[in-house]
Amino acid sequence: MWRVVANILLGAKVPGGRTCCPLPAPHGRALLPGTPRHRWQGAARRLHSARPLSMSLGIQKVEAVDAGHLLRVEWEDGSESRYPCVWLRDNCQCPRCFLRSAKARRLVFKDLDVNIVAKEVALAGGKKISITWPDEHASEYEAEWLKKRCFSEEARAEMREDLFLPECQYWGSDLQLPKIAFEEVLYNDESAYKWLCTLKKVGIVLLTGAAARQGELIKLGHRIGFLRLTFYGPTWQVQDKADANNVAYTTGKLCFHTDYPVLQHPPGVQFLHCIKQTTTGGESEVVDGFHVSNQLKKQNPQAYQILSSTAVDYTDVGVDYCDFAVQCKQRIIDVDSRGQAVRINYNNATRDTVFDVPAEKVRPFYAALKEFDDLLNSSEYKFTYKLKPGDIVTFDNWRVLHGRQSYESGSEVTRHLEGAYADWDVAMSRLRLLRKRLLKRD
Ligand SMILES: [Fe+2]
Ligand SMILES: [Zn+2]
Repeated sequence: MWRVVANILLGAKVPGGRTCCPLPAPHGRALLPGTPRHRWQGAARRLHSARPLSMSLGIQKVEAVDAGHLLRVEWEDGSESRYPCVWLRDNCQCPRCFLRSAKARRLVFKDLDVNIVAKEVALAGGKKISITWPDEHASEYEAEWLKKRCFSEEARAEMREDLFLPECQYWGSDLQLPKIAFEEVLYNDESAYKWLCTLKKVGIVLLTGAAARQGELIKLGHRIGFLRLTFYGPTWQVQDKADANNVAYTTGKLCFHTDYPVLQHPPGVQFLHCIKQTTTGGESEVVDGFHVSNQLKKQNPQAYQILSSTAVDYTDVGVDYCDFAVQCKQRIIDVDSRGQAVRINYNNATRDTVFDVPAEKVRPFYAALKEFDDLLNSSEYKFTYKLKPGDIVTFDNWRVLHGRQSYESGSEVTRHLEGAYADWDVAMSRLRLLRKRLLKRD
C-alpha cells in the first residue's frame, strides 16, 4: 500500500512545466523539463524513507550533554539526535502533562522551567528513554516518537513534507490540465487523495463527468468536510444577472484575478461547476501567480518589492446572502519570511478608489502593478480552456489567477456556472486523513 500511495504522491499524470522544488519524477514518464534528476531522486528517497524513519529504530545509547540541557541519543544505525531538555519536559507524555483523548498538552507554560536539566536519564531495552526531573517528576519517551521529532535539518524537512506538502510545480501556457473523474473523487479514496495532492502541487485540477445541474459542489464540500460560506452564499450562481452585484454576474470579460481579497482570510480553494456553456466566447483563462511572481522578482526586484509591501485597499458593498460592507487591506503579493510568494491578492474590480498611501508612492505602485499584470497576460504564462457542462474546475485561489472571455447575452441564460469556496485548512486536513488511511499510519 505504501508503494501505491507513493505512486499517487509521485503524481502519475502531472502536467508539463517547470519545477520549483524537489519534485518526484512521474512513473512511466520522462522527467519534466528543467528537473534535475538528483532533485526528484532526493524527494522520492525522502518519501520512501518516511516509513522506515517512523518505524521503530532502536536506541544504542543515551546521555545528557551540554551541562544537562541536551539529551544526546545514539541510534542503532549510528546516527544521532539531540533533544533540548526544556522541549522534552514540555512534551512529557504522562497523563498529568498530556491529555491523550484530545492529543493536547495539559502542562501549563507557567509551570515550565525553561532552564530545566535532566536529573537522571535511563534507557529501557533500546525502545524507551526515561527521564527523572529535579522535582522527581518522571517522563518516558518511545524511540519511534523521538525519532519522528528529531531536530536535524533532514528530519525536519521530511516532517514538513509530511505535514504540509510544501512542494509545488510551476507551469505556464504548456500546462497539461490534470483531470480526474468527479465520481472517482467522491467514492474512491486514492482518487480523492490524488485530487487534493495535485490541487496543492499544481494548483488546478479539472473534475469531469458531474451532472449538469446545481448541487454537485455540495457533494464535493461533504467529501472534504464543508464549504466556506461567504456573503455570496454557500454556493453562488455565475450567470448574467440584471443589476449585477458582482462583475462576474455579467457577460463581460473578466481579467485575471483572485477571488475575494477583500476578506481578511480569502478563500483558499475555489470550485466552478459548468452547468451550461455558451457556444461563442466564455473561455476560461488561468495563470500560475507564483510562477509569474518569481519572474517579476527576477526581472524587476523593485516592482516585486513594491507589490509585496504596499497595502492595497479593497472594498465590497452590497446585498446577497445578507447585506455586507466589507473592507480590507492586502498586499498584491503576500510573501513568507524568505520573500517567496505565498498568496496573491489581486482583484481589479474590488480594488478600492480609496488608496491609503502617500501621493508620491502612487505612480511607482501603478507601474509595478502594470508590469505584473502584463506578465500575467503574456502568452508565455496564461492557459486557456473552455469548460463543458459537467466539468468542475477546482483551483488554488491563493495561487492561480483566473479570468474569462466575454460572451454574448441572449434573451435567456446562455452560460451558467455554480461556484463555491473551501478553506485550505479543510482541504489539507482531508488530504492528511486520506494519506493516513491509505498508508495505514497512526
Ligand atoms: Fe472569480
Ligand atoms: Zn509528565
